[in-house]
This record gives sequence, C-alpha cells and structure tokens, in this order.
Amino acid sequence: MKQILAIDGPSGAGKSTLSRALARSLNYLHLDTGAMYRAVALAAIEAGVPLNDPEGLDKLCSVIDIKLKDEPDGLVVLLDGEDVTEQIRTPEISIASSNVSAVSEVRRQLVRLQREMGAQGGVIAEGRDVGTVVFPGTRAKFYIDASLWERARRRHEELKEKGADDTLEQVMAEIEQRDKNDSARSDSPLRIADDAIIVDTTYMTPEEVVKYIAEKVRELEKD
Ligand code: DC
Repeated sequence: MKQILAIDGPSGAGKSTLSRALARSLNYLHLDTGAMYRAVALAAIEAGVPLNDPEGLDKLCSVIDIKLKDEPDGLVVLLDGEDVTEQIRTPEISIASSNVSAVSEVRRQLVRLQREMGAQGGVIAEGRDVGTVVFPGTRAKFYIDASLWERARRRHEELKEKGADDTLEQVMAEIEQRDKNDSARSDSPLRIADDAIIVDTTYMTPEEVVKYIAEKVRELEKD
C-alpha cells in the first residue's frame, strides 16, 4: 500500500533534494510543507502584514490560494495562480517563513491543507512537524540531519549556483538563526518523533540517502 512518508529535520539537511528524488523513484507526490510557509511569508510581505500579527496572518491565510504542482523539472509553487517558485527561495524569505511559522493561526490553516493534500497517501511530506503533528499516525518517519557546517556548505553551494553572493558565514548564521527559531517556538517545534528513523547525512551522498530510505519504504509497502 502507498505510504505517507514524513521527512523532517533542520534547515539545509537535504530534505528537499531527497524528497524530490524519492518522489520520482517511488512515484509519490512531493508535499513540500516548507514551501507553503514560504508562500505565506511572501504573501504577508507583499500585503504589508507584519510577520508577528496573528490576526492579520490568519485573515491572509484564509484568502490566499497556495498550490504545489509536481512538474518533471521539480516542484512548482503557485501563490494565487502566480508561479513564485524562485521568489520564495531567497534568504529574506527563509527567515520570514521561519517567523510566520511560529504563529499558531498560520500553522492551523496550513496543517489542515497539508492533511487534505496527503489524504490519499502516496506522498512524501517534508518539513519540521510532519511526523509529530501533521501525520503522526504514519509508520514511515524519517529525521534527516547533518552537521551545521555541512548544512551551511550545501546551502551555500546551492545559492552560489543560482548566482547569489552570500558568504558561507552569512549562510551559516541564517541557518543557525532558523534552527533556534524552529526548535524554540512553542507550537509544533522541530523535534524528533519517538518512532522516527534518524539519518545523519553528513558523510553520505544524496544517492546513498535515497537508496537507504527507498529500501525502507518498499519494505513498508509490502505490509
Ligand atoms: O523547509 P524550509 O526551509 O523550506 O522551511 C521554511 C521555514 O518554514 C522553516 O524555517 C520552518 C518552517 N516550517 C515549519 O515550521 N514547519 C514545517 N512543516 C515546514 C517548514
């Protein structure tokens, strides 16, 4: 039977690369919950809603339309019909998304949407609270980790490829800040689910990680 895969872990641990590859190899849908928090952050900045205003953000979440489309080249994020895939990947939106994600009203609305999207199974859901809050009943839970230095190095390479000129130190500071925010918030903080399999990818290649997890999922599918 097709599973719901929960892929949680801190920023820059390689969850997105892994989830994309897994979605392709298992023919599952990629449900990038972080992209949804990023879309809310972008919408809030564009609408001038303060990132710590629960009422304003609650209203905003009720009127915006966020869609994730799995395309052959990767995930496309639509905000009110507009393709914002690239726009939501800037360091500014990274920090802003971490801020709006601490607001319970935002979480409540996005979690509802995520559960609807995953209702049929066959999804790879990646984020921070997927195994603990969004789909706590799923058996396929993974916590993807890597050292802070390695996570910063990978994110820095990614940004460089896109032409950004952030230094490694800047990227590391941003990741550290988000680690703090995401683990310290009171609503659904980043934590390892009791029944999650922990995968430290610091010394693993992306291919090794995909192979390891795909094997575990195929075992689960047999049951
Ligand atoms: O995975 P990401 O870096 O694209 O996520 C952006 C921010 O959204 C991250 O700093 C924390 C937040 N987030 C969250 O709180 N819960 C999730 N399930 C996914 C992301």
